[in-house]
Amino acid sequence: MAATVIDGKAFAAQVRGQVAEHVARLKQDHGITPGLAVVLVGEDPASQVYVRSKGKQTVEAGMKSVEHKLDAETSEADLLKVIEDLNNDPSIHGILVQLPLPKHLDEDLVINSIAPEKDVDGFHISNVGLLGTGQKSMVPCTPLGCLMMLRDHHGSLSGMDAVVIGRSNIVGKPMAQLLLGDSCTVTIAHSRTKDLADVVRRADIVVAAVGRPEMVPGDWIKPGATVIDVGINRLDAPEKGEGKTKLVGDVHYESCAAAAGAITPVPGGVGPMTIACLLANTVTACCRANGLAEPEGLTA
Ligand code: GUN
Repeated sequence: MAATVIDGKAFAAQVRGQVAEHVARLKQDHGITPGLAVVLVGEDPASQVYVRSKGKQTVEAGMKSVEHKLDAETSEADLLKVIEDLNNDPSIHGILVQLPLPKHLDEDLVINSIAPEKDVDGFHISNVGLLGTGQKSMVPCTPLGCLMMLRDHHGSLSGMDAVVIGRSNIVGKPMAQLLLGDSCTVTIAHSRTKDLADVVRRADIVVAAVGRPEMVPGDWIKPGATVIDVGINRLDAPEKGEGKTKLVGDVHYESCAAAAGAITPVPGGVGPMTIACLLANTVTACCRANGLAEPEGLTA
């Protein structure tokens, strides 16, 4: 039977709608407008595209959007001062420093200077620790989006075998913690894993987050498994014309879709969920800062 294609674009639109509704209620009932600040250092073209998109969607959801664009030579002290000011600004509930940072800046130091309760990326060491111990935290956006899609498709994930391929701090590790929190049996696989094919073949849920184009073939997928593809890789596509490129995920879509019960496409799967979850995290942070009830279904 053909796999269900999990439509991340439609799901993200639904999440943004829920966020916008909650924002409208916060304004109407409490006179509060959630605010998100994004800090971009340097001119990395991909980062500029992301930041523009984040700002646009923040405003569309009815929230305040602030952008700090700093030049590539900005000193660590100047960047830390920008973050300190945002930490102390009561109109700002979420702060995101776009990564990667230029080489002369210490990424860990910068991220850990963000007030944990405003760390809508969930990268601060306090949030990492809270998530790891099953306590209320800010949850990284991409894994949160994956979890929402999995819960929506399956209902309960309890007892399922999940394999996360990739051990990054941004996706792999927090994804594994979230799946564990939902009572999956979790394996984290990575570049040194022995016989990855065998490990993946046991999984009811496969989350691929390695950044290697089409590395998971369909014959690794247990029939009926759910495949969540976090990869966004650009490949040359001469078949589309000279100089053309195409986006592919970390799984080989056609063969994996033939075996899977459900699969996220690239593009249009996990990608759109990341910014939707950033907006959700900003509303959550705003509610917590004001001692108000959190939006239901938008947190882990
Ligand atoms: N760069 C790529 N992905 C992300 C993300 O989720 N958050 C931040 N801050 N930077 C990124």
